[in-house]
Amino acid sequence: MSGDGIMHDLMEEVQPALKTSGGKVSVVGVGQVGMACAFSLLTQHICSELALVDVAADKLRGEMLDLQHGLTFLRNVKIDASTDYSVTAGSKLCIVTAGARQREGESRLSLVQRNTDIFKGIIPQLVKHSPNTILIIVSNPVDILTYVAWKVSGLPKNRVIGSGTNLDSSRFRFHLSQRLNVAPSSAHGWIIGEHGDTSVPVWSGVNVAGVRLRDLNPKVGTPEDPDKYDDMHKEVVNSAYEIIKLKGYTSWAIGTSCAVLTNSLLKNLRNVFAVSTSVKGYHGIDKDVFLSLPCVLGENGVTHVIKQTLTEEEIQQLQNSANTMDQVQQGISF
Ligand SMILES: NC(=O)c1ccc[n+]([C@@H]2O[C@H](COP(=O)([O-])OP(=O)(O)OC[C@H]3O[C@@H](n4cnc5c(N)ncnc54)[C@H](O)[C@@H]3O)[C@@H](O)[C@H]2O)c1
Repeated sequence: MSGDGIMHDLMEEVQPALKTSGGKVSVVGVGQVGMACAFSLLTQHICSELALVDVAADKLRGEMLDLQHGLTFLRNVKIDASTDYSVTAGSKLCIVTAGARQREGESRLSLVQRNTDIFKGIIPQLVKHSPNTILIIVSNPVDILTYVAWKVSGLPKNRVIGSGTNLDSSRFRFHLSQRLNVAPSSAHGWIIGEHGDTSVPVWSGVNVAGVRLRDLNPKVGTPEDPDKYDDMHKEVVNSAYEIIKLKGYTSWAIGTSCAVLTNSLLKNLRNVFAVSTSVKGYHGIDKDVFLSLPCVLGENGVTHVIKQTLTEEEIQQLQNSANTMDQVQQGISF
């Protein structure tokens, strides 16, 4: 923006201001999930520029203005929006939330071809304008669409990440925390595999302060457990269905989940999160599929995958997830 007369009288230019800051994030899809992501990014001071893209031009402009009008109360962020992908140029990271969402009772996997077709239009445009970007895929079915995004982007696998079971793990830890009366951040447990119906709770590692629940009760998390801890995983799997039935969509938890992933990636924090990554070669998986495992997230995307010690049963469940993903992928037309 070039200054007018008042601006000229107000201030003396010492150096031209830089046009970009290097902390740019784009969000594609300004629906419930995209806006929850955008709002979390702003309130947690994670990015210095934010670009929004959607096909619905009026809604897009409305959301942009509404966010801009709150900037007085936040840290300054340059917020732009356009239906044209040139607005995303120079993004360090792009979060993709565009596409159809589940209707009441509908499974995530039924969205696959509809959202694949949408991705064929979106992903190449993002990479054209930000060739070194990192993609966080959120649209469902997220594991399959992360594979689709990797295929159509031409980016290396470490730069294409699905939001995966970071959300499921958070839901699981919340339920654990309520049962044990500690803070969710002090209840440690991981859900890996598919974000969805075949996700795998790693009961063998669930702990508080390093004390494994399995050492206290060898049946914890199994159907034989009289304390019924395994109901927690059922609740995790049913969470989205229940929330969609109650309010029509899910938004806040996935928004905060994406914000913490973005923070670790942009600032090279090397936090470990369960995100969807290429899992071929891990835990005996021989299919070219994306599923969640605990990953180290830094400026290069996924830099390491944590080699969890899993039980035979957990490995079997993970392999079942991989086979399900592979079967669905065989049916996709690119
Ligand atoms: N991975 C997860 O944990 C998780 C959690 C919640 C929702 N989701 C998924 O996120 C997606 C979005 O959910 P929502 O509730 O925000 O839906 P929504 O209907 O509120 O928003 C979707 C947005 O995508 C836009 N869109 C559609 N086609 C587009 C295109 N070609 N280019 C750009 N924008 C386009 C629409 O205009 C709309 O604004 C769904 O697939 C949903 O299942 C994933």
